[in-house]
Order: sequence, then C-alpha cells, then structure tokens
Amino acid sequence: MSIAQNINDWPSYDEAKAEAFGERFVAALSESSLMMMYSIGHRTGLFDTMDGMDWSTSDQIADAAELNERYVREWLGAMVTGKVVDYRPIGRTYQLPAEHARWLTRRATPENLAVTSQWISVMGCVETRIVDKFRSGGGVSYECFDRFHECMAEESAQTVVAALQDQILPLSGGLAGRLEKGIKVLDVGCGSGRAACAMAKAFPASTFTGYDLCDDAIMAAEALAQEQGLTNVTFLTKDVTELDEPLAYDVVTAFDIVHDQKDPAAVLDTIFSVLKVDGTFLMQDIAGSSYLEKNIDHPIGPFGYTISTMHCMTVSLAQDGVGLGTMWGEELAEQMLGDAGFTGMTKHKLDHDFINVYYVMSKA
Ligand SMILES: C[S@@+](CC[C@H](N)C(=O)[O-])C[C@H]1O[C@@H](n2cnc3c(N)ncnc32)[C@H](O)[C@@H]1O
Repeated sequence: MSIAQNINDWPSYDEAKAEAFGERFVAALSESSLMMMYSIGHRTGLFDTMDGMDWSTSDQIADAAELNERYVREWLGAMVTGKVVDYRPIGRTYQLPAEHARWLTRRATPENLAVTSQWISVMGCVETRIVDKFRSGGGVSYECFDRFHECMAEESAQTVVAALQDQILPLSGGLAGRLEKGIKVLDVGCGSGRAACAMAKAFPASTFTGYDLCDDAIMAAEALAQEQGLTNVTFLTKDVTELDEPLAYDVVTAFDIVHDQKDPAAVLDTIFSVLKVDGTFLMQDIAGSSYLEKNIDHPIGPFGYTISTMHCMTVSLAQDGVGLGTMWGEELAEQMLGDAGFTGMTKHKLDHDFINVYYVMSKA
C-alpha cells in the first residue's frame, strides 16, 4: 500500500503540515549530526587550531593540529556542508570565520558553545541501556556514562565558575564580606570541584568542603586542589542524602544537583540541618516551569527533557530514587525549599545564562 493510500486513513490530514515536518526533520538530521562534529572539533582542538588560520588545506590543518589528515578532511566535509567552515574549491582550502570561532573556541570561554555540544555524545553512549529501561523501568547509574564528570566540569566552569565572584556570590548580600573574614562552606554534589576550588582560592580565610557521590569526580577535585596548592578545601566521597553534621556550616552551595537526587526532599532537609542558624543556602538549578504547557516555548525545552531522560532522571531511578528530572521546575523547587524550612528566598536569573536559575535563602 502506498503512503498516498494510507494518508486517507488519518483523519483531518494536512498535507502542508506534513511537508513542513518532513523538511524540519531533514534539517534536524543535519543539525544534530553537526553537534557530534562540534564535539569532535572541540575535543581534538581543531576549532582552536583553525582560529585565526589563513585559508589552509586539509593537510596544513591536520599538521597544525597534529591529527590524521583523512579524518580531518572528512570532518571538514561536515563543517563545510554544515556552513560552519568556508571552502574554496580552487586550491581546496578551508577557513573558520571569526564570527563562528567566537562561539566554538577555548578563546571564547565562557561562551564556548562547543563545550555544550559534547552532551549529545555523552547521552548517546547510554542509549541502548535507556531503551532497555523504557521496558523494564529502573535507571542507568553514573558509572555507565562515558565522560559525564569531565563534560559537567567544563560546562559548569562556563556557567557557574566564570560568574561566581562577580555575579553569583553577590546575589546574597554581604556574603563576599563574610567569606573574606572566614566562614565554613559546604558544596554538596561538588562534582570535579571547580566551584569549590575557585571559592577557596578567592577566599583563603574561609574553609571549604566538597562532597560527591562519585569517586572519579572527587579524584578530579582533589587533583585540582593539589595543582592549585589549595590548603583550605577538602573533598570527600559522600552521599549527601544524610549527613550527621548539625549546625556545622555557615553557607551551603548546591550547583545543579538537587533535581537528580534519589531523594531530593531528604537532601534539602540535610542541607537545612547542617546549616548554622542564619546560615545561607545558595542553589542553582534549571530554569523552567513544573508544568509542561508552560515550557512549550522554553529555549532549550527539548534538550532539557532529553538530558533528563538520558541522565538526570535515570541516575535517580537507578538508586531507586524518585526520578524528579531536569525539568522539575521552579514552582516545585520553591515549594520543596519552603517545605524544608528555608525562609527569605529570592530567585535570580543572570544575563549570560538562560538555562539556570539561582535561589538564595536562609535558615532563620
Ligand atoms: C549535574 S552534576 C553537578 C556537579 C557540580 N556541582 C557542577 O556544577 O559541576 C550533579 C552531581 O551531584 C552528584 N550527586 C548526585 N547525587 C548525590 C548524592 N546523593 N550525594 C552526593 N553527590 C551526589 C553527582 O555525582 C554529580 O557530580
């Protein structure tokens, strides 16, 4: 049976709408393929090599990047047909326009979009396991992911660490002054420790502790602290669902961790318990609504629900957790923070960052 005959079976079929979707799909195929190639361009250093390079052949580019020419030429094919790199057939030379280098190179940090492209491959590496979970339920645990902590560290270095001193810490009035005098800070789910190390470096009179569930993240954090010669920061592998350290900290920070907890309510209760009275809790999480219908025009809605399916929700379900998901939304976040006992909450969005929202509150 031809597709034309089948079409009659679909009620109120709109041919123009179908054509438009087909075209959109083909465009998405090319754009999503480019995401993998952006990731490779970032990881191999090809974008950095081509940044500012005059019109060059694939041999010259491969030599400069110390890579295999055959692979580089095929990658350039994707870049040229994707209109990322310019091409001159006479002489077969290539050039990365400055306007694209501005978004794709390490020089563009903290606005290097190629960093974010890496998530597509990180998510892709667990697709078969996730398909199995669609049938069986349950989740895929952290150790099944290739390069999760490495990519997370690069991502939050751009979104959080780069803005920490000038924009994020000032969201809590007086916090910088307290940090300068010397206080105790806990970073829960510290990952590879970049935020804790940045704070430890900036505020030598304060002491910082970072806890994370994953050994490999803690090892990276310890290596970073050692490399930077920091003596006021300590990292430990620890589940923050329950901590027996009542009233131990003046400030707790949680950068992008609450939504992928196995028991987010218990973690918020724990944070409340470890904070001193009048202590400050600074939480960064994903901007968006708890209601799907309010996220229809969310600038990264499909990405948010995809990374939730492929990582944030599934790592929680893998621990028999609640699987809150990346898009748990600001309404639910505010309700859960209130239920945990926090007061005086203020909510902020930063100019450079349309993905995250920052909540500042206290334990009165
Ligand atoms: C999305 S990552 C964010 C990491 C880091 N805060 C950053 O911004 O780069 C979430 C982190 O929370 C950690 N994590 C998840 N559940 C945890 C738990 N119960 N206790 C401690 N760490 C946890 C994960 O291992 C992961 O490193």
